[in-house]
Amino acid sequence: MDQKKRPVSGDQSHINGKKQNYTLAHFVLFLVRKLMRLRPLARFLKAKALHLQTTEHAVISSYLPKSFHQFKILHLTDFHIDCNPSVIDELVKTIRPLVYDLVLLTGDYQDDYHLNPIKIKSYIEKLIDTIPNGVPVVATLGNHDNNATIRVLESLGIKVLINESYEIHRGKDSIVILGIDDVHWYFSDSAISAFETINPEQFTIVAVHSPEAFEIAEKQGAHVYLCGHTHGGQICFRAGQAVLTHADCPKHMASGSWNFGRLIGYTNRGVGTSGIPLRWNCPGEVLLARLVQE
Ligand SMILES: [Fe+2]
Repeated sequence: MDQKKRPVSGDQSHINGKKQNYTLAHFVLFLVRKLMRLRPLARFLKAKALHLQTTEHAVISSYLPKSFHQFKILHLTDFHIDCNPSVIDELVKTIRPLVYDLVLLTGDYQDDYHLNPIKIKSYIEKLIDTIPNGVPVVATLGNHDNNATIRVLESLGIKVLINESYEIHRGKDSIVILGIDDVHWYFSDSAISAFETINPEQFTIVAVHSPEAFEIAEKQGAHVYLCGHTHGGQICFRAGQAVLTHADCPKHMASGSWNFGRLIGYTNRGVGTSGIPLRWNCPGEVLLARLVQE
């Protein structure tokens, strides 16, 4: 039996956006890394980085079928479990009281790309065990994940979408979740073909790791775009002022809600931390997206 694989990275040249000036950002990161060598400070900052905020956000659209009015999606992203495994305990505590109809995971389960994801399976399992029976869990991959991640997620009953769609039905109505593989490093012809399957008449939510494919999603007629990857900057001078976003897209798309044409987007700051277990002026985020028919 053929195992599911992510396609080989393709041409990213048509993903347009603003190039970042990395010089200042990397200098700040260099200083932070030095400071993190002070153990009591590192312990304090690591604990502070675990703080998660729950955002309840209404996605209002006249295209939404009536039966999906008040449908709730729990969107989680950017776990980077091996960077700070305690994040899963915090996450479990945070989501336990929430009520939702679908769970959407948009990648970066691990921080080290070369890590065998079997090593973080028990943490993902803890998260899945918190989700009530009957609630579907759909996932895409991030740029830190690898092909073995697919098998680990599928072994836990998660539906992994690699440039393919998943339909949800309610009565005569349906909506589509189009799961695109990471577009930061793995944008490929398969992703383009998947975008071309969008039927603008059918309410479509694009689930993808990074905001960088916003243009093609809008052009093909998608209605909603849920993503992560940027961590909202992870380190911000002031709330919302990211030092670095690692995303080739306009800065206002690096965190929170945004619009592009008729596309409604949300970039989730994610739950974990990458590289250094530190968040500053930029807490981790759990998104509860409520679909509302206008
Ligand atoms: Fe990430």
